[in-house]
Amino acid sequence: MEKVISGIRPTGNLHLGNYFGAVKSFVKMQDEYDCMFFIADWHSLTTHPTPENIRRSVRTILAEYLACGIDPEKAPIYVQSDVKEVLELYLYLNMNAYLGELERVTSFKDKARTQPDNVNAGLLTYPTLMAADVLAHKADKVPVGKDQEQNMEMMRLFARRFNRIYNVEFFREPQSYHFSDKAVKVPGLDGSGKMGKSEGNAIYLCDDEATIKKKVMRAVTDAGPTMLNQEKPEPIRNLFTMLEIVSSKDTYDYFNDQYNNMTVRYGDLKKQLAADINAFCAPIREKIMAYQADEDYLLRVAKQGAERASESAHKTLSEVRQIIGFRAL
Ligand code: TRP
Repeated sequence: MEKVISGIRPTGNLHLGNYFGAVKSFVKMQDEYDCMFFIADWHSLTTHPTPENIRRSVRTILAEYLACGIDPEKAPIYVQSDVKEVLELYLYLNMNAYLGELERVTSFKDKARTQPDNVNAGLLTYPTLMAADVLAHKADKVPVGKDQEQNMEMMRLFARRFNRIYNVEFFREPQSYHFSDKAVKVPGLDGSGKMGKSEGNAIYLCDDEATIKKKVMRAVTDAGPTMLNQEKPEPIRNLFTMLEIVSSKDTYDYFNDQYNNMTVRYGDLKKQLAADINAFCAPIREKIMAYQADEDYLLRVAKQGAERASESAHKTLSEVRQIIGFRAL
């Protein structure tokens, strides 16, 4: 079975955009592939050198993944920093990664601009660590967003280069699996762009009913349609997209007809939308709370995940050592 691996940085709670983008695909893929999912806490040090409550953020994502339906029996979930073999591969890959190519990576250039006081080597070698995450398990497929494509290209470059330098056919080139091609894009609530792009435009899976309602009622609208059957401007289109995602077809058609004949009342639409978002989120939210309350279970999941991942990475690394020439003395 093909191996799939993906990581997420523990930078915040999961929102509906994450759910319909990545996480829903992960849940589906766990039945079709040999999957592993991990929480990239080392990577988060590239931007947050003294992360507050990193343990808590890691536990939160773990609980949220489980609540969304990732089954650790099918797809181990582990914490990146629990699998030390990845560091050894990171070191080897860094020896064959060149300053010029690392400096040209767009996300590096962006970060160098946004955090000019902390242009650290970890940031520069973010793509080698990411390559090590995947190559340590010789994974075939990596589900990622389009924004990760350059990192994926670097990963394939490092895999090819390793093979060439040591004259082996050891690493396969991991392929990107763009879930965004299949997934619905969840818009933000601030009238433009996608959910999560800016502060405060997201509905988190853990938001309670009152919070959801408040956020939806505040969503940007306009003065209403001025022509029959007119095209919807972006903020309104976004509300309809949300209805399409969480409401029934009847509800969607009801408000869409009202929009088209210019009788729509955004207040009513938003009340319905908030209720439907809440109905969607409530069961997930309850599971998140239950998992978060069960610390022992979360620790067991992470421990079991780390064992499975270490076993797989250990095998790769002993072969890599052989290939490079570090044999037992
Ligand atoms: N860079 C990814 C992101 O920001 C997170 C990540 C780290 C990752 N290592 C990975 C994703 C390995 C896939 C595979 O979204």
